[in-house]
Formats: sequence, C-alpha cells, structure tokens
Amino acid sequence: STEELNKRARAAREKLQDRVYILGHHYQKDEVIQFADATGDSLQLSQIAAEQTAETIIFCGVHFMAETADILTNPEQNVILPDMRAGCSMADMATFSQTERAWEELQDVFGDTILPLTYVNSTAAIKSFVGSHGGATVTSSNAHQMVEWAFTQKPRLLFLPDQHLGRNTASDLGIPLEQMAIWDPIRNRLELNCATEDVRVILWKGHCSVHMNFLPKHIENLRQNDPTRRILVHPECTHEVVTASDDNGSTSYIIQQIQKAPAGSKWAIGTEMNLVNRLIADNPHLDIVSLNPFMCPCLTMNRIDLPHLTWVLEELVEGRIVNPIKVDQDTQHNAKLALERMWHHLG
Ligand code: 13P
Ligand code: SF4
Repeated sequence: STEELNKRARAAREKLQDRVYILGHHYQKDEVIQFADATGDSLQLSQIAAEQTAETIIFCGVHFMAETADILTNPEQNVILPDMRAGCSMADMATFSQTERAWEELQDVFGDTILPLTYVNSTAAIKSFVGSHGGATVTSSNAHQMVEWAFTQKPRLLFLPDQHLGRNTASDLGIPLEQMAIWDPIRNRLELNCATEDVRVILWKGHCSVHMNFLPKHIENLRQNDPTRRILVHPECTHEVVTASDDNGSTSYIIQQIQKAPAGSKWAIGTEMNLVNRLIADNPHLDIVSLNPFMCPCLTMNRIDLPHLTWVLEELVEGRIVNPIKVDQDTQHNAKLALERMWHHLG
C-alpha cells in the first residue's frame, strides 16, 4: 500500500542522512515531491546539484536533468535516476548524428556564421556538440539573455531542439518570423521563409508533446467565458498560444506569479498536470484551472513514482547504487563548456 511504501521510503531516507540529497523537478508527483530536499526548475536544479556535497544525488526528474547533474558534480559523486525510462521526448528529437549532419549542411549554406544554442532539454551528447562549437546551453528562464548573447558572437544561431522556445524567444527579441528558418531532422531539409542571407535563426524542428496540447481555441473559449482570467503558459507552447496568453515563463516563474496573485484572482495555466494540480491544491484562495480542460501529464516525468523512489533508497541503504547516470569523460568535458558559457554569461 501507499502508506506502507511511504513508511519504508521514510525509514530508508532517515538511515541515509546527509549521504543522499533528493532533487525534485516541479513536474514530479506529490508522492515524490514530499521527499525532495530541494525542488526547482531546470536551471535551479542544476545549480543546486553543482553545489551538492552529498555522496549520492537522487534526481527525480528526467534523464537529461540527471545527466546535467552528473556533469556538474564531481566524479566521486553518484547521480541516480529512479526509473531509467524517464526520458524526455523533446530531448530525443535531436540525436548526435542528426546534429552533425545538419551542421555540415548548414555550413554549406551559411558558412561559418552560425552559433549553436541548445535548450537544456537535450542529451549530454548534444550539449557537448554545442560546447565544442563555441555555443552554450539555455533554459526556459534565461533564453532571452542567451539568444542576445549568441548574436554578439555570430550573426545567426541554430536553436536546438525546441522550435517553440526558440521561436518565442527570437520573436520577443524583435526577429520577424520570416527570418526564422526551420531545420527538419527527419527529412534533412531546411525550410526557408526568406532569402538565405536574411536568415537570423534556424529552429530545430522539435517540440514538447505535452505543451502541444495547449491550443489557441482553449484561450478563445476561456476569454469568451471570462475575460478577467489571466492566462499563464510555459514558453514550450506554440507561438500562437504564447502570443494569445497574458504571460509566459519557466515553471518557477509560473509558481512565482501564482504566489504573488491577489486573493480571488482567476488563472488558467498551460503546463504539466502535476504542477497545475499542486498550484490548485496549494492556493484555495485563487481560482486556478488548467488551460486545457483535460489535464496534460508528462508521461515520462510520471515514471518516477513512490515505488521507484523507495526501491533506490532501500538499495542505497544496502550499499547498492542502482540506475546510476554516468556521462563519459569526453562528452562531459565539452558539455560542461556549453553549460559554463551559460553560467558565465548569466554572471
Ligand atoms: P523548466 O526549466 O521551466 O522547469 O522546464 C523544464 C521542462 O521540461 C519543461 O517542459
Ligand atoms: Fe520533456 Fe515536455 Fe516532459 Fe518537459 S514536459 S520533460 S519537455 S516531454
């Protein structure tokens, strides 16, 4: 039973004391979040991981987040992902070989005028590719600053792997949609909307299937029913949705806006279900709904659950590290360059 598992997990957690540190992304289930020593968005969790001295970090999030934690911690520390099937479909939309091939073709078209930027929602291999080509990582909370920085380095940028975060950010910075080309990694094709010399941004054709569930018609329906309801979405939503919403930002930004909201105010939130449900439960003085009336779960985030967390904790008590995430040395080195350029630029 859940009660039994809770008891076992708590007992194991107590035995491990400060040998273990548990990180939980805002999209994790309540049954997992209750055990988190720290919660945060992608940027915050990687910062916390980098500062950790515990022997073992249990990362309750998805695979790319655990990889980043492994890159940022020292080699003696272990990072555990409680369920190896907790991937991210967006990160899997850009493979290393696809990226190499795209890069070659893009060099043929644009010459040495492109800087690669990758959303942290990408594999360590992609981060390492970007790092070894002078580029940096970005998160949903610093994409604007990082895109501005990219343009101080090169006249064009390749934004991997989320076309929507790339488009939303570039558009906010005043780049017209026509000057954004799209690289299709399945067809190996560049989709142009203007002359090649006018292209400023090349968007990798990847997306988050969870955030694709929020549609302009959901916003229209809500606006018709009640124009006072504020609509707050994650920038992984499409450009149409983000422009029709009132505000957008990272998971932590969404939480901050709700924490500041006046009692009785009405909100519709366009992001993953566990976070929306938690905001609803924690804020009974507000009227919060999901932007899509059918709640949208991230199935891979949800693979981390109480049974898996209990299992890895109990194995640790027995001295066994299960589901370790280890990024090889070369990949680590170059991926770290991309991450460090981000930290360095953010100051
Ligand atoms: P945040 O960095 O905003 O937490 O986003 C991570 C993520 O996976 C969103 O889908
Ligand atoms: Fe990946 Fe989307 Fe899930 Fe975030 S919500 S982990 S981008 S699939």
